Amino acid sequence: MIGIIGAMQVEIDGLKAMLKDAAATRISGIDFVTGRLHGHEVVLAVCGVGKVFAALCAQTMILRFGVRAIINTGVAGTLCPQLGIGDVAIARQVVQHDMDTSPLGDPVGLLSGINQVYLPASSTLSNLVAQVVGEKGMNYKLGTIATGDQFLATEERKRWIHSTFDAIAGEMEGGSIGHVCYVNQIPFAVIRTISDDADGNVPNNFADFAAETARSAISITAAVLERLNDEQELD
Ligand code: ADE
Repeated sequence: MIGIIGAMQVEIDGLKAMLKDAAATRISGIDFVTGRLHGHEVVLAVCGVGKVFAALCAQTMILRFGVRAIINTGVAGTLCPQLGIGDVAIARQVVQHDMDTSPLGDPVGLLSGINQVYLPASSTLSNLVAQVVGEKGMNYKLGTIATGDQFLATEERKRWIHSTFDAIAGEMEGGSIGHVCYVNQIPFAVIRTISDDADGNVPNNFADFAAETARSAISITAAVLERLNDEQELD
């Protein structure tokens, strides 16, 4: 079973429509929809926005559905000049930019209990995503995706996250899904289509716009599943 998590309905709806034998179970207010997609058993969920919803969704997928990997798909704001709107950020690793115990002498972003700042995504999955995106002719970058409970909307914060963590894109769930996967030793991937510049210039119709960019993240996720072999070992 492979888990696929999106924060918003538009980030998951397209995949739901492709599911065979779909069945839903509601747990902690989240609908978990199981079924088959390109020959794989999958469970899809719209977790809601932010780190806590994403974490509880990932942990539930692991404990209740026994997933062997989790893919987080959706949109993000760009934090680097190489990624513009419509391009794709793929996580080599994730970081939580709002985790800060630096007044106690720790490096900013340190996850104290596990003594890590950066958590690595599955390189097998991430490389497969890069291959699929490259073949679609889309511009992409593999790198650090930064997560926090903030919609990034100022040049100052954007610059700080980019320079502190060398992050390529910012969003609100991937780092906490990575955190849950890390402590449970479950491989994960984060695929994010760029929806905005993370500098406050959010289009008025952000929801419509995000829906359009989310659709391309969905088609990438579907293509990755099509390529993935059920027997393939994931790191
Ligand atoms: N998701 C899409 N755009 C974002 C932004 N600017 N900040 C945080 N999450 C996002």
